[in-house]
Amino acid sequence: MKIKTTQFIKSSTSLEECPKGDFPEFVFFGRSNVGKSTLINAITNNQKLSKISSKPGKTQLINHFLINESFYLVDLPGYGWAKTSKENRIKWDRMSKDFLVKSHKLALLFILIDVRLKPQKIDLENINYLGKNNVPLNLIFTKCDKVKKEELKINVDSFINQILDSWEDVPKYFITSSTKRVGIDDILSQISDTINSITKK
Ligand code: GTP
Ligand code: MG
Repeated sequence: MKIKTTQFIKSSTSLEECPKGDFPEFVFFGRSNVGKSTLINAITNNQKLSKISSKPGKTQLINHFLINESFYLVDLPGYGWAKTSKENRIKWDRMSKDFLVKSHKLALLFILIDVRLKPQKIDLENINYLGKNNVPLNLIFTKCDKVKKEELKINVDSFINQILDSWEDVPKYFITSSTKRVGIDDILSQISDTINSITKK
């Protein structure tokens, strides 16, 4: 799929405020600083689309970007960032989960995992919660440029093994680097396949 147009639509504080209309949503969720906004910019080849920061907590609202005038990429605030107030953490968590579980337009959720880390409890808990609520999801391991091949394999395998403790099948997953553009085309193909399967229904 070719990206022809990218357009920031709006930032929302709740599902009710989100843009109306029927375009399918592809949503990016994960720990603060995992690289959600950077990945959206890599996918769209537009470095200015979503704001990036080396400090966690940059994205604080539900951000809709309309792509090719036919689907949305949605950037959410990250979770697990200890340095913001507890009220903020609870507010962002509620806002994101309410949106994820209730949005009728959600076509696919990508949950991002930092491949440099050993499996994190908060990632596994969120994946299990969203899976149980029937949110269609894939996993994206990020920042693969930052680890050696052996470490990458160990971290991916141990994450997948942990998932298998509660899931019958492993969700589809991708290994990516936004800076080195690894796996970006695979994500674009997954988006385009999902759009095709929706329109066939
Ligand atoms: P919040 O909005 O705070 O939830 O963070 P986020 O998940 O949107 O992360 P963001 O895209 O802002 O990136 C966080 C930091 O990670 C930035 O310094 C990025 O440059 C860096 N980063 C993101 N993706 C990659 C990657 O693939 N490789 C490397 N080396 N750095 C990356
Ligand atoms: Mg962000």
